[in-house]
Amino acid sequence: MDKIVSLCKRRGFIFQSSEIYGGLASTYDYGPLGIELKRNIRDMWWRKFIQGRNDMVGIESAILMHPEVWVASGHVATFTDPLVECMACHRRFRADHIESGTCPECGGVFTEPRQFNLMFKTHIGPVEDTASQAYLRPETAQGIFVNFQNVLNATRKRLPFGIGQIGKSFRNEITTGNFTFRTREFEQMEIEYFVKPGTDEEWHRQWIDDFMSWFVGLGVRSDRLKVRAHAQDELSHYAKATSDIEYNFAWGWGELMGIANRTDYDLKAHTTHSGVRLDYFDEDSNQHIIPYVIEPALGVDRALLVFLFDSYDEEALGGDTRVVLHLHPALAPVKVAVLPLSRNARLVPKALEVYDMVRSRFVAQYDDAQSIGRRYRRQDEIGTPLAVTVDFQTIDEDNAVTIRDRDTMEQVRVSLDDLLDALGEKLNM
Ligand code: GAP
Repeated sequence: MDKIVSLCKRRGFIFQSSEIYGGLASTYDYGPLGIELKRNIRDMWWRKFIQGRNDMVGIESAILMHPEVWVASGHVATFTDPLVECMACHRRFRADHIESGTCPECGGVFTEPRQFNLMFKTHIGPVEDTASQAYLRPETAQGIFVNFQNVLNATRKRLPFGIGQIGKSFRNEITTGNFTFRTREFEQMEIEYFVKPGTDEEWHRQWIDDFMSWFVGLGVRSDRLKVRAHAQDELSHYAKATSDIEYNFAWGWGELMGIANRTDYDLKAHTTHSGVRLDYFDEDSNQHIIPYVIEPALGVDRALLVFLFDSYDEEALGGDTRVVLHLHPALAPVKVAVLPLSRNARLVPKALEVYDMVRSRFVAQYDDAQSIGRRYRRQDEIGTPLAVTVDFQTIDEDNAVTIRDRDTMEQVRVSLDDLLDALGEKLNM
């Protein structure tokens, strides 16, 4: 874990937020490489689950919603964690996370547990009274439910169909930690997949399989993934069944995503609270029905952490250690590094020319500082799948370059005329 955190800071993946002011606990900023990785994760999800399917559409709803949404959804009443406070040092803990009966910081005695609502409150407009109170959304899902009829009318989709969105959510978590695993501000990629009642259990299984395949297809080792069904007393207030896909992190198994069967809970609840019917005319039975919902919900930050952990490797190489991120090429922040063999005045202009050419099609980085060996290592450490090296032979003999593969470290010589196609073939893009 320490190695990942240090790599993230050193190379510009993830920084502590507001660091120059001492940092804000459990809040993080994504640096130049981190944001490329994050965008690639979002893009792969969007392409696969929204654009790649005829039964899916996307939306982007507002973070601020009518406060009644959260009454209807059950979040005002039940989106709580049990909290205890140490009577001596006043530190707060989740009652279900403490191991002994006394404060782990000072040994003090705890108060009785009380329910603590995890939603962040804010006020809309200039008057801070109860009438102006609103919440930062704790999940993106409700933005989909309240738009169910709008999307149905606009797209004329037939069941089964789904709506997905990506966006920020906020929870005033009592216990945070393990780097970006649990934070108070995070990003979710959620799908609400509407199905005919009675077909829900089959679709639930299908979505679990689809996401397991998605992670493995993006390079996550299958022996570090498992599906865990929630026990009855763990289920959220809206769920008939939930399975988590868990990942074996450095600290043990932890939730990567949840796939819930939310039944018709949300559409019914919003129908009751808003007075607007959220239902579907089923032409087969000639009846209005309320669809059931399967919800695959994944955190972008948590997925990013898994891709980092899973791809991180240290290899012995010539009496030294090579740190390498074996990231899937589609996720890698930089696809191709362009490196002149040295800073020689004859090599640099040619290498810059090659860099311009490569950058026209792939996210690329140019580096001419220090020895070629060290530059390869720097690219390995950030997961760049391919490095193109310009040498004297390029200029004097063959107008060709070498392409070095991050994982095998093998090098092949390719004519500059064929370079873009060769890179595209190797990257599969
Ligand atoms: N709409 C359902 C829902 O929000 P959830 O299990 O509470 O379900 C879904 O959250 C996913 O969002 C989690 O599996 C995780 O990937 C991510 N997530 C939830 N809380 C998080 C937090 N505090 N920090 C980072 N990611 C979080």
